[in-house]
Amino acid sequence: MKSHIFIIGMMGSGKSTLAPLLSQKLKIPFTDTDKDLENIFNLDIKKIFDQFSEKKFRELESTYFLEHIKKSRMIYATGGGIVMIKKNRHILRSKGSTIYLNASIETLNNRLVNHQKKRPLFTNKNSLKTILNERKQYYKDCADIIINIDEKSSKNILNEIIEKLNK
Ligand code: S3P
Repeated sequence: MKSHIFIIGMMGSGKSTLAPLLSQKLKIPFTDTDKDLENIFNLDIKKIFDQFSEKKFRELESTYFLEHIKKSRMIYATGGGIVMIKKNRHILRSKGSTIYLNASIETLNNRLVNHQKKRPLFTNKNSLKTILNERKQYYKDCADIIINIDEKSSKNILNEIIEKLNK
């Protein structure tokens, strides 16, 4: 089996937008772990956090992820916190090509400010800084490819990903 493609990065970095575009281009099916979990629980992410806690969400996300990667080759739009669990990091490093969409706090904040309901961990720029500080090294350590996405269109980012995957 050929290996998976994982897209990682902070909330608001464009993982859910890029995964279907990449899927169309490479003719590899994609999945979005947040959307899958919402469908499984029939609850939106915020309600999952409220009803089960952040810790439980991470466990559910990880269990789902570790099972799902046993399936055939796929592109994954992962939740921003996927790198917080060691076993997930191991998968990201060993079971495919991992693409880190790297964005500045400014870009993330501008994109997220109107979508707070879907992101229980986002309150303001400071919350993003704290989260990014905690995760940045994990994102970098897991990545085969790092794409700086600030001020780039989805089309440009997509082309850059394809180019780097082909190298
Ligand atoms: C989270 C990011 C969200 C979602 C949940 C937790 C995080 O996914 O999984 O709100 O910890 O960064 P997106 O990165 O798709 O927004």
